[in-house]
Amino acid sequence: GEDVCLSDGTKVKDLLDLDEGYISSRVIGDPEIHQMEIEKIFSKIWIPVAHESEIPNKGDYVLRFIGNEEVIVSRSEAGVVNIVLNACTHRGSPVCRSEMGNSSHFRCPYHGFTFKQNGDLIGVPAHKEAFGDGFDKSQYSLVKARAATYAGLIFGTFNESAPPLEEQLGSLKWYLDMMLQHTNEGMEVIGAPQRWTVKSNWKLGADNFVGDAYHTFMTHQSAVQLKLVPSGDPKFAFYGVHVSCENGNGLGLIGGPPEYELPPFYGVPQDIVEKIEQKLTPEHQKAFRRLAYIHGNIYPNMSFGYFSWATEDGKHPGSYLTLRQWVPKGPHEMEVFSWVLVEKEAPDWWKELARETYVRTFGSSGMLEQDDTEMWKNITRATKGYIAQSKLKFIYRMGIDRKPEQGDWPGPGTVYQGDYSEANQLNIWHQWQKLLTDSNE
Ligand code: FES
Ligand code: FE
Repeated sequence: GEDVCLSDGTKVKDLLDLDEGYISSRVIGDPEIHQMEIEKIFSKIWIPVAHESEIPNKGDYVLRFIGNEEVIVSRSEAGVVNIVLNACTHRGSPVCRSEMGNSSHFRCPYHGFTFKQNGDLIGVPAHKEAFGDGFDKSQYSLVKARAATYAGLIFGTFNESAPPLEEQLGSLKWYLDMMLQHTNEGMEVIGAPQRWTVKSNWKLGADNFVGDAYHTFMTHQSAVQLKLVPSGDPKFAFYGVHVSCENGNGLGLIGGPPEYELPPFYGVPQDIVEKIEQKLTPEHQKAFRRLAYIHGNIYPNMSFGYFSWATEDGKHPGSYLTLRQWVPKGPHEMEVFSWVLVEKEAPDWWKELARETYVRTFGSSGMLEQDDTEMWKNITRATKGYIAQSKLKFIYRMGIDRKPEQGDWPGPGTVYQGDYSEANQLNIWHQWQKLLTDSNE
């Protein structure tokens, strides 16, 4: 494992000095590295693909990506979630060409092979005349992935020997429960995810969301000036915790200065407050009650933001949970899927406020989204050249001397007081290095 090499002889492990906090920019721009990520990360571990509320009924399906492979995620007649590769076993044509819908089966548009949702081949036009008697349909199912869910999130993997999903998530599960299952019915996705393409390496999104509270007051200065951020205090991220979980997962949770008044549980309506108080454990309630921002990443490529933003003076602040997936499209490009979620039991006015607040701040029209996107696109461009790739090292030294400190934080994981740290980013790179140099195939 130690010796995994690029074709010029550079060892992957020599691109990172995680003890000192330096990482070569080659990890962002190199096409060989990219291919290794596809094989050793996206084809090996559980990858989030959808939320259960997107396919509530039998026959519902959505098209998603595991790495660079398009998959059909569907709910079968039996109510089970299936994930299959969207490529016909006859000649590779996608068998499903609509981003979402409802269908009991998929018929290939090229020659008409028909597949069940679980990938089984059930129909071949002119079967006998064309292929004769020896053609055994049961051998030509679509390539099947395993599916598993946690807290309403659907994950898939093509790796038959991947350890159970819950093991991969580790202590992040506690936080997913808090964000996605704080009422009996849980969260639901509003509408379809927005999709757009950015000329950025996918890892820049993950690196930002997992731990970069530090960029807020520079990158998002205009949001601060507009007083969208409830507290204009530039030390705001100091009033929070930075939490590293197992296997590259991590998040930061920020309330605000102690004197700053925050409505409980992100300002949800009173009847939702009551539902939360019934459903969550005292520890969960203590953590969740006084927060304004959660940012984090489910390793490798699904980030989340649970944000509260001021609306007009004197009006109720709006808040929402957004999930966003950074789908790799080569070393210098990604496609973003961005969802917004809200409590299923919430009244319509709250759902509408959440949706409006989201489209103003994140998603393809959101001002903070555009601030971030500009940075990641420019980083990808500026670090692409031969000199940058061979000489430039990124600095990951913020908080490097700081020891974990639980304080009175009630949640699990490795906890740091104050969210100005790069521990979570280093945690991502540790996992990245482990997966890329893992020789236990
Ligand atoms: Fe699908 Fe031929 S490619 S039936
Ligand atoms: Fe940002």
